[in-house]
Amino acid sequence: ALKIAIIGGGSTYTPEIIEGFLNRLDQLPIKELWLVDCEAGWEKAQVVADLARRMIRRAGDPFSLTLALDRAAALRGADYVCTQFRVGLIPARINDERTALKYDMIGQETNGVGGFAKAQRTIPVILDICRQMEALCPEAWLINFTNPSGMVTEAVLKHSNIKVVGLCNVPVLTEKGVEQMLQVAPGQCQIQVAGLNHFIYIRHAWLNGQDKLPELLARVAEDPDALRPKNIPPFKWDPDQLKNLGVIPCCYHRYYYLPDEIMQHELEHEKREGTRGEVVARLEEQLLARYRDPKLDIKPPELAQRGGAYYSDAACELISAIHNDKRTIMHVNVRNNGAIKELPADCAVEVSCVITGNGPVPLNVEPFANPAIVGLLRLMKAFEELTVAAAVTGDYGTALQALTLNPMVRKGPVTRQVLDDLLASNAAYLPQY
Ligand code: G6P
Ligand code: MN
Repeated sequence: ALKIAIIGGGSTYTPEIIEGFLNRLDQLPIKELWLVDCEAGWEKAQVVADLARRMIRRAGDPFSLTLALDRAAALRGADYVCTQFRVGLIPARINDERTALKYDMIGQETNGVGGFAKAQRTIPVILDICRQMEALCPEAWLINFTNPSGMVTEAVLKHSNIKVVGLCNVPVLTEKGVEQMLQVAPGQCQIQVAGLNHFIYIRHAWLNGQDKLPELLARVAEDPDALRPKNIPPFKWDPDQLKNLGVIPCCYHRYYYLPDEIMQHELEHEKREGTRGEVVARLEEQLLARYRDPKLDIKPPELAQRGGAYYSDAACELISAIHNDKRTIMHVNVRNNGAIKELPADCAVEVSCVITGNGPVPLNVEPFANPAIVGLLRLMKAFEELTVAAAVTGDYGTALQALTLNPMVRKGPVTRQVLDDLLASNAAYLPQY
């Protein structure tokens, strides 16, 4: 029987993970599910846990649910630990976005200074969780989907002995999008991706033994809405540039190829309805109002308005694939180990893997060859390595170097200004500095 702990269990995304487990009762012999949250999020956590209990009751109470402040109690003897916490909650995200805007920069939660700041807050906490896991459940798998998912995974790989897999819904959404474009049923097409989290390229899209990539590439070059999730604006790629890449960039690549358009969009968005974090804060209020309804005992459809839909379902599927040695293909963040030849062996990459009982085994990735990709990929990995190092050591110079490499960060004295501003406003969450 399995014990599963979810750190950040009070998240409004939790009904999705509960639904994911309830849908897989025949595959996963769960006995205990623990939701862990902190004082600051306690009231929200209780609302979420009450809905979770009603969902579990509706299914005939197949496993117990415990909401706990005590992380150690939840981790002790756990088989799988899912991390979906947000240090500083949504207000910290809004502060990142607003600080970036103040200096005419992009501060999205995983890109530019926003991703950097979120990594600085999150990495000390994930490493603290790993220390506890090493003592209380050293054999457990850590399934991380706290953002920035790739860098958080890399920190765990480099600084702990815990087995970790990092998740994102972008590959899931991409696969679904490809199937829609090809007008085939879900599960028909097999994509292969490689890159970094929120920085993957689609390398292949297999259907009936044929690689549909050329056809898809041509269509993505013409249609700005192709393969675009709700939280990414519909900017048209330059068709010649896309053709030259030869592989399909993911939705988040717009931050790198079209930064001026993104910046303009963020400014207009802010004027119209506030930053994305502010929109999300309002969405959360509406969701929680729904969750408070004592008659509600299913995952409400409104949850799909959040960019992270399918994250938790992917987590449940990943746990089932490991537990049952399914040997199916999923697209996850793991140690590179030479899969992407252009990147260091010990870094985290997001690649298509066969999921076995021994964890993910990456598929072969052909060399990227095109310097247009290799250059940017190496630059972004260097940014990630420095960001992780800064988060671990709290070294100011390393932090400055990391930001200086990021294409979305303005250079010169302003880099120091935005860094100082972020360090000061996040001081409560940055014990390492
Ligand atoms: C995408 C990304 C996630 C991110 C989410 C943001 O799905 O893959 O990493 O968390 O968008 O969505 P939100 O609704 O919070 O803006
Ligand atoms: Mn993601």
